[in-house]
Amino acid sequence: MNINWYPGHMKKTLDSIRENLKLVDIAAELIDSRIPISSRNPKIDDLLEGKPRIIILTKMDMANPIETNRWIEYFKKRGLPAVAIDAKTGKNIEKIETISRIALKEKFLRDEQKNIKSKKIRMMIVGIPNVGKSTLINRLSGKSSTKVGNKPGVTRSNQWIRTNSSIELLDTPGALWPKFEDERTGLNLAFTGAIKDEILDKENLAFELLKQLIEIDPSIIEKRYKIDTHEKSTIEVMDEIGKKRGTLLKGNEIDYAKVSRLILDEFRKGMLGVITLECLK
Ligand code: G4P
Repeated sequence: MNINWYPGHMKKTLDSIRENLKLVDIAAELIDSRIPISSRNPKIDDLLEGKPRIIILTKMDMANPIETNRWIEYFKKRGLPAVAIDAKTGKNIEKIETISRIALKEKFLRDEQKNIKSKKIRMMIVGIPNVGKSTLINRLSGKSSTKVGNKPGVTRSNQWIRTNSSIELLDTPGALWPKFEDERTGLNLAFTGAIKDEILDKENLAFELLKQLIEIDPSIIEKRYKIDTHEKSTIEVMDEIGKKRGTLLKGNEIDYAKVSRLILDEFRKGMLGVITLECLK
């Protein structure tokens, strides 16, 4: 994640994405299934206005499937065809074409009237850092991927990537900046690793994560660390985890740096289970 987004940089990014958008039929907005709101760029609606688009919820393997289904319905109700995928294993990626066809229904009707036979879908992938853009592009293109090469009117740096479906991908994803509009969003991005740890205080971060996890469902922590969280404050729970895992300093004091790293690492590796941090009511 590049924290050095400044207004000039943002404008340049938006301009270049706008230019590239003219080359494609559809934009696929990638968001993280665990934090479907925090992982959206604040400018995305302006940027994609009038462009057919779909929502791809990545990292479905790490999110609570019930919550993910709710989010898919939420987006669908707002006119955005959505699908959840695991970009690492390729689970559900064949559905991307299906929902793209739904979003492009009018275009294909128009094409039919004009006797245009091609059913190709030219797609651009956009999303904040770490959401899975490169993983998905690699997955869609597969090993046998061929670059279609430069086409007239296409900026030289842009290449088209063929996939196993009728989708042709622009090889340059639109990397957008994450939003830092409020503390909660920043924390969610940090918990999931979208913001690098160097810029954050790990102990505070782990404390906030623990607090949130207990709020979502105390059994997440209780099962993993075999402790009881009942009527305990967050710091007391952190101490319990430290004792259980032996992250202690001399004199049996809790090594907070160590226990914080442990909690964050285990969450990010999915060892605490499938967890959605932003849930619909
Ligand atoms: P970006 O281009 O949008 O910046 O994201 P990128 O594809 O580089 O993915 C960022 C991290 O997220 C990578 O992990 C990648 O493997 C992981 N990832 C992407 N999609 C999924 C998914 O659907 N499920 C899961 N579980 N992980 C996903 P990394 O730790 O940086 O690399 P690696 O060790 O996995 O290779």
